[in-house]
Amino acid sequence: MEHAHGHGHTHRAHDFDWAAMVSFAEADAEVLMSFLDGATSALADLAAEDGLDVLRILDVGSGPGVAACALAERFAGASVVAADGSAEMLANVETRAERLGLAGRVETLVVDLPQGIDDLGRADLVWMSMVLHHVGDEGGTLRALRSKLDAGGLLALVEFGDPLRVVPDDVELGRPGLWARIDTAYAEWMAGMRAELPGAIVSADYPTMLADAGFDVVIDRIVAVRLDPPLDAQARQVALGYVERMRRHVEPYADAADLAALDTLIDADSPEGVTRRPDAFLHVSRHLFVCRAADR
Ligand SMILES: C[S@@+](CC[C@H](N)C(=O)[O-])C[C@H]1O[C@@H](n2cnc3c(N)ncnc32)[C@H](O)[C@@H]1O
Repeated sequence: MEHAHGHGHTHRAHDFDWAAMVSFAEADAEVLMSFLDGATSALADLAAEDGLDVLRILDVGSGPGVAACALAERFAGASVVAADGSAEMLANVETRAERLGLAGRVETLVVDLPQGIDDLGRADLVWMSMVLHHVGDEGGTLRALRSKLDAGGLLALVEFGDPLRVVPDDVELGRPGLWARIDTAYAEWMAGMRAELPGAIVSADYPTMLADAGFDVVIDRIVAVRLDPPLDAQARQVALGYVERMRRHVEPYADAADLAALDTLIDADSPEGVTRRPDAFLHVSRHLFVCRAADR
């Protein structure tokens, strides 16, 4: 593993412990495999239509490497650089690539985003999933990604779609309207988290930022992944992990009764908890943008 940067991280209230999230992040990405299949297949179709030879792929903020490996499988002639700030995530990328027989084509690189983008080298395809919202200057980051591509190169940007759900909105869990209030609290958490990021500036909407950075948007699509009851053990653990994380994030913004409702959902011993209730499901949604680097 190469070390591209040695910038120290300052510790802020919203800092994430990514090292502790490796197994959850891998299970999370695996339950969204149908999304990855669809997205990588759309990218391969577009590359074929454009006559773009995809030889080098950057997965920026790769996390545990599920997408990096899926991209290596989809683009059999390409090498993939999985770049992330967490050495623990990258160790998982290496184990996963080895297990899937992809070790020769998936390499890892420690980067500190956004400045580390400078050291990533050029690419034919850049993939960035669920990472942009962790960077203070999203527009500047997209411009830096554009500089990695020649005109006609591809960018796939994945961000949050519709809010997550694990039980029906009208299920009896305390006061009616729980999920609308939790969505609001989550948005408040997100705004607070973003405001504390280094170099934080207010972002425009994605299409505006992408156009300003020199991209033509080809696909702008909300993709829903719906796992219906009964959930298997892995999906239940992912549902539990989502609600636990949500509970932590919304704590300062939600009232005690709503937090108690979330506590019931994450209680492994409660028949109303997501690990035991028969009606638990997983509705996760992602916003996918596929873009071509425009002529300058
Ligand atoms: C939510 S995970 C997304 C992982 C993966 N791309 C996916 O979609 O499943 C965010 C990843 O971005 C990395 N990350 C967040 N902020 C970063 C930064 N400033 N520099 C480098 N990596 C960062 C974290 O280590 C983590 O692996």
